[in-house]
Amino acid sequence: MENKTTLITGASAGIGYEFAKLFANEGYNLVITARNETKLNEISNEIKNKHSVNVKVLPKDLSKQNAAEEIFNELKSENIDVDILVNNAGFGLFDDYWNIDHQEERDMLQVNIIALSELTNLFAKDMLNRGGGKILNVASIAAFQPGPTMAGYYASKAFVLRYSQALDFEMRRKGVQVSTLCPGPTLTEFQVRAKMEDINLFKKGFTMSAAEVAKTGYRGLMKGKSVIITGKMNRIVANSSKVSPSKVSMKIVDWLQSKK
Ligand SMILES: NC(=O)c1ccc[n+]([C@@H]2O[C@H](COP(=O)([O-])OP(=O)(O)OC[C@H]3O[C@@H](n4cnc5c(N)ncnc54)[C@H](OP(=O)(O)O)[C@@H]3O)[C@@H](O)[C@H]2O)c1
Repeated sequence: MENKTTLITGASAGIGYEFAKLFANEGYNLVITARNETKLNEISNEIKNKHSVNVKVLPKDLSKQNAAEEIFNELKSENIDVDILVNNAGFGLFDDYWNIDHQEERDMLQVNIIALSELTNLFAKDMLNRGGGKILNVASIAAFQPGPTMAGYYASKAFVLRYSQALDFEMRRKGVQVSTLCPGPTLTEFQVRAKMEDINLFKKGFTMSAAEVAKTGYRGLMKGKSVIITGKMNRIVANSSKVSPSKVSMKIVDWLQSKK
């Protein structure tokens, strides 16, 4: 039987890179995408040296309009069918709201929400036509409450969670599973890019490694879980925000995201 194919966005670093290694280890052919072509080529070589799978490198900036459609069309033109889509690419902006540049916020919403929903839409319809498939959308425990100093990021992840849950409800009985992965603080380039390395959240021992997060996500996806929250501590945080008033949750977020 032909190997199945997994498309992973944001595969040049962090959790996405760990996903790429995991899926290759399980015998999946890969399509890996991100902006950094050099990194993607290095990862492709590393994986092909270890596993007998095909790896297609597809550099793309998901903050640009039409990026999702270009990915879909390019794969169609090469007769590559995607069996599993991992919508992992994403980034956060962290600062007092009035200091956040709105063009940067627009780019973040384009990557975290628009590109994710466009890729989901194109590939889910294709999967439905072909009889089934799986999608793993990466949200965050940020999805469970409002996040002062990261308002746009938290809200973007709430979108990912609610969007994916509803799609899973609609499409699972037709053969397309849409799971949501909600990691807590994870040691990757995310916090470097968002300039939040020295805040309490990343200093107080709450963190997990990208490899642990990807492994939990992979297992949850294969077990058919709808929402996958990584680690006991993060499950407590997510569950407590269901019962605690937003004002209280925001005070906790404010402390976790401060340097004191
Ligand atoms: N780290 C955490 O604490 C944490 C917690 C919860 C959720 N998450 C979520 O986990 C996912 C993966 O993040 P990570 O922690 O692994 O961060 P990371 O190490 O910074 O990796 C992010 C990936 O997204 C790609 N990306 C960023 N902007 C892009 C763009 N405009 N177009 C295409 N690709 C882009 C990056 O590649 P290029 O730079 O090469 O484009 C990189 O491969 C994100 O959705 C993030 O929100 C992270």
